[in-house]
Amino acid sequence: MADETGSAGATGSARANGKVILLGEHAVVYGVPALAAGIDRGARASASAAPQPELVIDGRPAEGPEVWQAFTALSNELAAPTLRVTADLEVPPGSGLGASAALGVAIARAVLSAMGKPAPAESVLAAANAWERVFHGNPSGIDTTAAFYGSCFKFKRGHAPEFVELVAPLRLAVVKAGPPASTKTMVEGVAKLRERRPDLVDKTLEAIQSLVQNAALCLPAGDLVGLGKLMDYNQMLLSGLFLSTPEIERACGIARERGALGAKLTGAGGGGSVIAIAEDPEAIVAAWQEAGLTAFVASCAGVADEDNP
Ligand code: PMV
Repeated sequence: MADETGSAGATGSARANGKVILLGEHAVVYGVPALAAGIDRGARASASAAPQPELVIDGRPAEGPEVWQAFTALSNELAAPTLRVTADLEVPPGSGLGASAALGVAIARAVLSAMGKPAPAESVLAAANAWERVFHGNPSGIDTTAAFYGSCFKFKRGHAPEFVELVAPLRLAVVKAGPPASTKTMVEGVAKLRERRPDLVDKTLEAIQSLVQNAALCLPAGDLVGLGKLMDYNQMLLSGLFLSTPEIERACGIARERGALGAKLTGAGGGGSVIAIAEDPEAIVAAWQEAGLTAFVASCAGVADEDNP
């Protein structure tokens, strides 16, 4: 993971994965398991000793109180000295692809590496979760888990992830369907709906739970057709919680018309990204690009990798 470690003044470099939630976002906040996957794009970070704390993201000095609060929380968690940290994103921020968690994990790994320390899950995730709490208030921890392990797993809040072994790396079509939405706002929206309509929301959560359970069986069997159907149902249920948008529905429609086996929003919704499962994900990406959207194929490794380079 690190390139130079061990001595005072060393530079630590590391990376972390972005993520997609295959099924179960929002429900995971209420204790329902979700299925997530780390993807082969995320964030890179380097850290080295400096007289003043510095944080540069995508070539620009970090601005605003939130990001500094998050950086301080992460540094305090690791008892880090004063460092200059540079980080670069490989996924669009605020789009449900786990950009902030990937930054948190990559930075925590780089900081530990610059300190000459190992970077086990316990320390990295504690630091990255401290960073995430500043942005997301009450994160379930699913994003940082995906950023750390980069594989496919079932996640229940407060429990260790259950890794799902895949027959082959999972290849997904991913598109930025709309402008970013705030995860905090979207999570609060569901909480408010639940206060007003507990019957509706709790039935929806139960239904999502059963979709997740079935999808967890489809994945190790390589049943993409089954997985796609379950993703479509999940999208319908998310729409019922007011998490979808016309842009998201349009992106799902384009994917299905071009032969996708299933498509849904991923992450908080209200904008952000759509994922589609298909025999030929490149064809779906091409259809989205023809419609003027930014899209790419993401790959998820079949096994967990703690030493993500
Ligand atoms: O940060 P996002 O957009 O990937 O959303 C995270 C998933 C939620 O279930 C909506 C929130 C959470 O903390 O799990």
